[in-house]
Amino acid sequence: MTTSLTSLHANHFSGTLPIPGDKSLSHRVLMIGALAVGETIITGLLESEDVFRTAAAMRALGTDVTRIAPASWRLYGRGIGGLAEPMNILDMGNSGTGARLLMGLLASHPLTCVLTGDASLRARPMQRVMKPLHSIGACFLARANGQLPLAMAGTAHPIPIVHTLEVASAQVKSAVLLAGLNTPGTTTVIEPLPTRDHTERMLQGFGAILRVEENMTGGRIITLTGQPEISGRAVTVPADPSSAAFLAVAALLVPGGAVTLVGVCTNPLRSALYDTLREMGAQVEMMNARGDSDEPVADLVVRHAPLTGIDVPATRVPSMIDEYPVLAIAAACANGTTRMYGLAELRLKESDRLTAIARGLSACGSRVDIQGDTLIIYGNGRPLLGGARVNAACDHRIAMAFLVLGLVTQEPVTVENAQEAIATSFPNFVQIMNRAGANISDSLENSAR
Ligand code: S3P
Repeated sequence: MTTSLTSLHANHFSGTLPIPGDKSLSHRVLMIGALAVGETIITGLLESEDVFRTAAAMRALGTDVTRIAPASWRLYGRGIGGLAEPMNILDMGNSGTGARLLMGLLASHPLTCVLTGDASLRARPMQRVMKPLHSIGACFLARANGQLPLAMAGTAHPIPIVHTLEVASAQVKSAVLLAGLNTPGTTTVIEPLPTRDHTERMLQGFGAILRVEENMTGGRIITLTGQPEISGRAVTVPADPSSAAFLAVAALLVPGGAVTLVGVCTNPLRSALYDTLREMGAQVEMMNARGDSDEPVADLVVRHAPLTGIDVPATRVPSMIDEYPVLAIAAACANGTTRMYGLAELRLKESDRLTAIARGLSACGSRVDIQGDTLIIYGNGRPLLGGARVNAACDHRIAMAFLVLGLVTQEPVTVENAQEAIATSFPNFVQIMNRAGANISDSLENSAR
């Protein structure tokens, strides 16, 4: 069966478009809700492969998790420290967030479990979470380089730690805080550069006692009081700004494009792509600002505009880490050179995104250079040739970024192994793109066979 998708030139791109729920928040509400006492009702949960893996893991740990309607889920939490030992291996699929946050949760429970994932997840570094969780008292037996599959034994006597992040990673921060929930005393995470603060906001929303202070250099000190009573509640998950980014860039690139993306999470620590696109000349407005549960939300209005190359500083990386693939597409279509600094972490995502972006863009006729951890894209404002085949390599964001590029190339762009990659975070991507005016299908492949 072919799972390749081909994206043809689009003549228009417009509409008021729904975007599925935020992936980061969806993982977190399933995990934190499982530790609350009583019922949590979730509206707007992302129904994608990654989140299904987390839901299945929480069930395997004894939580009652039920889908009650499309995107509406109910769970009955077991209370802090109440997770049960799973009877089988926990397979987290493609999800780094699912795996790393779960390791945090499990570290302060006295139970043994084995975690694995798909080929992409089994190649990703887990040392970054194993190290602080080991200081808390958890034990790990992993493959060389700390890769999955791994076995872990959580501790009955967790030790509160003060952990300074070595990499700007919300996953590591969240793993330590989730372990801190069932740890007596206070657990502290110091982050030199602020990363997405969904865990902090959601923990506070569930009633945990958590303090956030800014330090002198713009970093944050997050202190969590362990073993609080947290109670089940209603949570609405806003739309995912990282998924919305593909539709926003599509609207920017297609002449005459104009979209309204409804109910998108506008957390400032997720929004740097939109600031960057504005600097490049984009028109992006945030309308109807409001709040959903613990997060700020707005409707994003994006209109076509010619873009100019810019320098994107390394300080912006944590607030737009997942958006570089689609930013690179915008940069390749812009007039002038774009330099994106500080991208070492991109090599450790679902694929080596730095290489995947450079290879894919070169195959489509763009001039690209990687110097250390800087990505340089030389745009000339003219449509790229396209006509290339790009492999998704188990990476949803690479797949979706190159399908967006196909809207504006002279020849179609084909992404191999696209469908299963996209299913991890944005299952109805093709449907929504085509509703707005894209021509993405697998028909060319099928008719050629
Ligand atoms: C995420 C954090 C980021 C991001 C990932 C989701 C999260 O990873 O890339 O898609 O939900 O905490 P890192 O923490 O590794 O930067």
